[in-house]
Amino acid sequence: MHNDIQEILISREQIQEKVAELGQRLSKDYEGRNPLVICILKGAFIFMADLVKEITVPLELDFMAVSSYGASTKSSGVVKIIKDLDNSVEGRDVLIVEDIIDSGLTLSYLIDVLQRRNAKSTTVVTLFDKPARRTVDLEADLTGFVLPDEFVVGYGLDYAEKYRNLPYVGVLKPEIYTN
Ligand code: PRP
Ligand code: MN
Ligand code: MG
Repeated sequence: MHNDIQEILISREQIQEKVAELGQRLSKDYEGRNPLVICILKGAFIFMADLVKEITVPLELDFMAVSSYGASTKSSGVVKIIKDLDNSVEGRDVLIVEDIIDSGLTLSYLIDVLQRRNAKSTTVVTLFDKPARRTVDLEADLTGFVLPDEFVVGYGLDYAEKYRNLPYVGVLKPEIYTN
């Protein structure tokens, strides 16, 4: 275990099993269709990579990077697109892949953008969810794990850009972020 981690919340094996389950479910849901799968960078990159290997329908991938304008404006739901999609979503069944839903602002903004661009459908799969932190009415269509409101990192989740590469999700030692 990494020295900055206090406790492993979800193991590598638990994640693997859940991702396979989500992939099987999505393969059924998208039977006969050809979804455009969108990874929300950076956090979702590992989940995206593992998930699409478990999906058996033909699909296309695209990537989008977003950031909030800052703590104060994030509460207004203003999200800036840092890297936009390469492909048009018009008429497409879009599957949005996220690592975690917190306030819900990032996704509620993105869903709105994709619907205004005339996506045929927008579906959200998130590996993690912290419902206790929600400020807008937003639920994923598919959720892997519900997390307590603790400072967690790993499997894509960062603290100051670190720890994304940990193969499990763990609670960060408080001394790491309180000084
Ligand atoms: C994190 C996470 C989600 C978003 C969730 O991304 O990966 O995308 O925050 O928060 P919300 O529900 O309150 O909007 P972050 O903005 O930290 O960027 P990152 O993915 O590059 O780490
Ligand atoms: Mn993110
Ligand atoms: Mg982050």
